[in-house]
Formats: sequence, structure tokens, C-alpha cells
Amino acid sequence: MNERDSEQVAQMLIARGHTITAEAEGADVVLLNTCSVRDLAEQKALGKMGMLRALSRNRPVIYGFLGCMAQSRGAALLREVPHLDLIVGTQKFHRVADYVDQAIERKWAARRDDIRFSVVDVEEEQDSQSTIRDHLLGDKQVTAFVSIMQGCNMHCTFCIVPYTRGHERSRPPAEIVKEVRALVARGVKEVTLLGQIVNLYGRHEFPSFDGKSPFVQLLDALQQTDGLERIRFTSPHPIGFRNDLIESFARLPKLVEHIHLPLQSGSNRVLKAMHRTYTAEKYISLVDRIRAVTPDVAITTDIIVGFPGESEQDYAKTRELVDRVGFDNAFVFKYSKRKGTPASQMEGQLPDSVKEERNQDLLELVNRWAKRRNEIFLGKTIEILCEGASKTNSDRLVGRTRGNKIVVFEGAREHTGNLLNVRIHRCTGYTLYGEPVSR
Ligand code: 5AD
Repeated sequence: MNERDSEQVAQMLIARGHTITAEAEGADVVLLNTCSVRDLAEQKALGKMGMLRALSRNRPVIYGFLGCMAQSRGAALLREVPHLDLIVGTQKFHRVADYVDQAIERKWAARRDDIRFSVVDVEEEQDSQSTIRDHLLGDKQVTAFVSIMQGCNMHCTFCIVPYTRGHERSRPPAEIVKEVRALVARGVKEVTLLGQIVNLYGRHEFPSFDGKSPFVQLLDALQQTDGLERIRFTSPHPIGFRNDLIESFARLPKLVEHIHLPLQSGSNRVLKAMHRTYTAEKYISLVDRIRAVTPDVAITTDIIVGFPGESEQDYAKTRELVDRVGFDNAFVFKYSKRKGTPASQMEGQLPDSVKEERNQDLLELVNRWAKRRNEIFLGKTIEILCEGASKTNSDRLVGRTRGNKIVVFEGAREHTGNLLNVRIHRCTGYTLYGEPVSR
């Protein structure tokens, strides 16, 4: 989602005649889009902004923090980072280009860097969810993110999102369909629909129809887009993952067989304290129902270890559930205390040593499953969408399967942007390796 928001800002700056530089050294304007989900991300952003200050030693430079951390800390950031010119929150990305131009004008006129006119804009804005809609596509770019909603009303007790992104607001389906059609006209073949709680898209704005939620109706509409090959979405909540959505995987050929389904914990006691409103049994039953309809589905997840009060038994339940489901992959996070969230006030906060131990232990289990789930493809031929040259070895190409597995293979550059079949001959837990075969 941050990548998507940054793309919107970059697109607007370019439309005004700015250029994007890959090297900070040459930049007149330095904007950092920030994540607040864990403290580590905030510390990284602060560290980076501190380092970048050196750029302004010999010339004026505009500095800005955008996004979640700007939203949650607001003007207080100026105390910590006095060289900031802009602090722009999550509902104001579309204003950044204006603020940059104003700041440039002022600073250049003043010819010195010590006059402070910092702009802080962290206001709410009606319909800001509809302002993330422009794209900056690279050469032969085949895959794009599309933001369909903002915010979240679930109030999981560990999570800062309701405070940084606000309450749930969805974009009208017609706007989204139009955006996707325009992307396809520019060569895009795969879209990933983004939302903090994407399966509950439109629940406050649009009615269900014919037993289908607004989200499933949107999937139906996108299925009709000629030239679009694949539809992904991230991230859903197990709550609200109903039969109409489960059946969509069998019904809609463009909807790929991958679901990122955040679990957070396998202990009912912890799930309750997290305010996740499902139980381990319900989660397993959901996975079983999904697999009954789509046996080849890849399921990935997010898990937090070391939530306040998580006992050894609680953690053992998480382990058990991970082993029962056999995830294709999982992000494991050490619980991070977020200011203003209910969990930050809970008793039983655990020392980092305990979190770290569980983190390592769970990663080991997750990685074992990832390898096992990838080995299924050895000797098989699967369809991939080729995204271009591999970042680590430009002689190779990289693509993704419908199940979102990364495939590295040798082949002609012309494959970029195409669907093709690849025969898999080797794998790790992260990557499949193969060679193209004729379709
Ligand atoms: N500490 C650790 N992990 C967190 N996440 C969200 N909030 C926290 C927190 N306070 C994780 C959840 C979520 C993912 C995006 O980040 O697992 O699904």
C-alpha cells in the first residue's frame, strides 16, 4: 500500500515537471513515505532522515515525511527532526506536489535553510480514498496495484492502522473498473487489489446483491475486463471470508489461487485478547472450505509472536496450527508495542529474548513448510507471468505463478510481459527454478 501511495505522489510530481532521481545525492527534494505498523519501521525512517540531512550542507533541500508516521506523530516530529519541511498524512498524498512547489518557492526565495515554514497536513479528507488512482508504469510493466479502499474498523488491539489510516472508506466500483481498464490498455495483465481489510470492501457504501458481497461483485466486474489475465487481492480478514468469496475462486478464471490470510495467533486466548473475533477452529475450518473448492490454492499468512501474555502453551498452539495448515509461506513478526493501542497497555509484556526465541523457532517451521510446498512443483510445468529480468542476475528472467511463487528461469527478454509455461527442475523455500516450454 505504501508503494502504491508513493507511486501516486511520484506520478503527480512528474506531471508537474519534476524528475525522480535514483541517487539521493542529486536530490533537491527528499520525501520518505513511512510505515508505522512496527516500531522498527519508524526507527529506520527516522535514522534515514537523519542521515539524509547531510545533503543540505551546501545547498537548500526540501525534506518531507509522508504517510503513517506523519499521520500518527504530526507536528511532534518537528521536535525530533527539526529540518523537516513537510509532514503529510495518509489522506493528503494528493496534496504533496502542491506543498513541494510551495516549499521550493519559499526556500529558494529565502536562499537559506534556517527559515522554517514547515507544512503539517494530517487532516482527514472526505473521499481521500479516491485520490490514489494514477499510475506510473515502467517499461513493459505487467502488474500493478490498485487501491480500492482505505482504513480499517476492526480495531485489533495490537494494530495502529485505525489511527493512521482512519475508518473504512471504499471507492465506487465503476471508478475501480475504469482504472483497471486503463491499466490494461497500457499493457498491464495482472492487478492486485489493495485494502487493509479488502474482503470487506464496500460494506458501508454498497449493498449485497444476489448473495454476493460488494467485494465479490467487484471481482465479477473485473473478470469481464478483456485483456486482464490475473486478479489478486491483499489482505483479507478471516471474518467476512464467506462462501460467495470462496466460490469465486472456482467461478472466476482470472482470480488466482493465492490467499494471504492473516492468522496472527493459533491460541484462542490470544486471539480473543487481540480482538480477532475468530477461533483457531474457525480459521482451520475456513482453510478447509477454501481447499475443498480450490485444492491447489497457496495460502500464506501473518503471525505475531510474543503478544502480551502469550504463554508457552499459547505459542505451542500457534506452532500446532501452522503445522496443521501447512502454509506456503508466512511473515512472522515479533510483537511491537504501538502507542495508543489497547495491547500496549496490557499486562504481561514479554522481553525481547522470548519474542526472538519464538520468532526463530516459528521461522524454522515456516521455512520447512515453504520448501515442502514448493517441492510439489518439481518436474511440473506451470504458467507464469514474466515480470522481466531478475534483480540478482540480469541474465535470468523472473515471473510469478498464479499461486504467487517466484520463478527464475533462463529465456529471451521478449518473454517479458507474457504468460508462458515453465518446467520446474529445482527449488528452495523462496524460489522455483525452471525453463520455458512451448505453450
Ligand atoms: N506488532 C507486530 N506485528 C504487527 N502487525 C501489525 N501490528 C503489529 C504489532 N503491533 C503485523 C500483523 C499484520 C501485519 C501487516 O503486521 O501480523 O497482519
